[in-house]
Amino acid sequence: MAIKKILTFPNPVLRQKVETVTSFDESLKELATDLAETMYDAPGAGLAANQIGVCLRVVVVDVSENKEEKKHLVLVNPEIIDKEGCQIDEEGCLSVIDLTAKVERYRKLLVRAQDLDGKSWEFPAEDFFARVIQHELDHINGILFIDHLSSLKRTLYKKRLKKILREQEEGSF
Ligand code: NI
Repeated sequence: MAIKKILTFPNPVLRQKVETVTSFDESLKELATDLAETMYDAPGAGLAANQIGVCLRVVVVDVSENKEEKKHLVLVNPEIIDKEGCQIDEEGCLSVIDLTAKVERYRKLLVRAQDLDGKSWEFPAEDFFARVIQHELDHINGILFIDHLSSLKRTLYKKRLKKILREQEEGSF
């Protein structure tokens, strides 16, 4: 159990192919625990395994109903099997520093995933919960929320990020 470093754009690992989980062993359980601890430490609403450098199709999503509670779902090999509606809201990402932007997503989903023992289950999701799931599923497909923005917005962000990273480097002396 450990809090891991979250990789940030433009780290190429975030774009790498992510493998389907086939062995439901102890190391998978450890990965899920690390993901949850890292997500709560950040803090974030969800986290995908490739954000901590593990290229497996595993994500965690926070489903706590209040601040004291720490309740999360582990989704192994998740997929969206049905979707409808539309919602537009502000989104951010632990792997995309210093940016939030409005992103269009489906409003309602039917999701299929496996649990840590490999058992398959389906559940509905809507509104913010559905948004987080779409965001995390994007991650394991190598997609970041900035890919949903206009190319102008993306270019402006990349310019600003370069400046931020340069300033961080200069500040580290
Ligand atoms: Ni993200």
